[in-house]
Amino acid sequence: MKRIVILLSGRGSNMQAIVEACAAEGWPAEVAAVVSNKADAAGLAWAAQRGIATAVVDHRGHPDRETYDAELARVIDGFAPDLLVLAGFMRILSAGFVRHYEGRMLNVHPSLLPAFPGLHTHRRAIEQGCKLAGATVHFVTAELDHGPIVAQAAVPVLPGDDEASLSARVLEREHVIFPLAVRWFVEDRLVLADGRVSHRDGLPQHLF
Ligand code: GAR
Repeated sequence: MKRIVILLSGRGSNMQAIVEACAAEGWPAEVAAVVSNKADAAGLAWAAQRGIATAVVDHRGHPDRETYDAELARVIDGFAPDLLVLAGFMRILSAGFVRHYEGRMLNVHPSLLPAFPGLHTHRRAIEQGCKLAGATVHFVTAELDHGPIVAQAAVPVLPGDDEASLSARVLEREHVIFPLAVRWFVEDRLVLADGRVSHRDGLPQHLF
């Protein structure tokens, strides 16, 4: 059984999708813990109710990013993860932290990377007149919202869309591709070579 630790900062709908898919589909894995930088993150309460171990590592009160990330890694490693999942964890990670979990840390980002790294992805896609938007699951590297792409989902940007309507359409797809990508990882189906990720059995890594 592989051990998954999930980091989040808020609502935790992607975390819920992963926990539920893991249980429903009988993955060779368990969600060992959910860790947050925010004590009041809604996702933490949901996980605790499900009997999943939770921990808070408050980012306030640490002198710098490196000190915080070292404490975060200490707490995470206490749960002995095979895979670290960033599910709406809204902090920039230090190079040392990223190196420590290299090749075993996945993130979901609400855009079709490499377009729109950073914040306000949906607003920016609408402002740019994009006709497609989407979400990306990728291995985390030191550069923000970059790294080998595991799966992407595309959705239309419709006339009249605002940030809320577009983000809801994208989020629904995140809940499909993120659990799928995590499942592929725990089932050892992903091959990472030359900065690119393929599926061992050639399964499609895109969703329209
Ligand atoms: C998701 O839309 C995720 O893609 C985004 O935060 C949201 C978290 O929602 N992540 C990022 O923007 C990271 N760069 P959730 O807490 O309901 O899963």
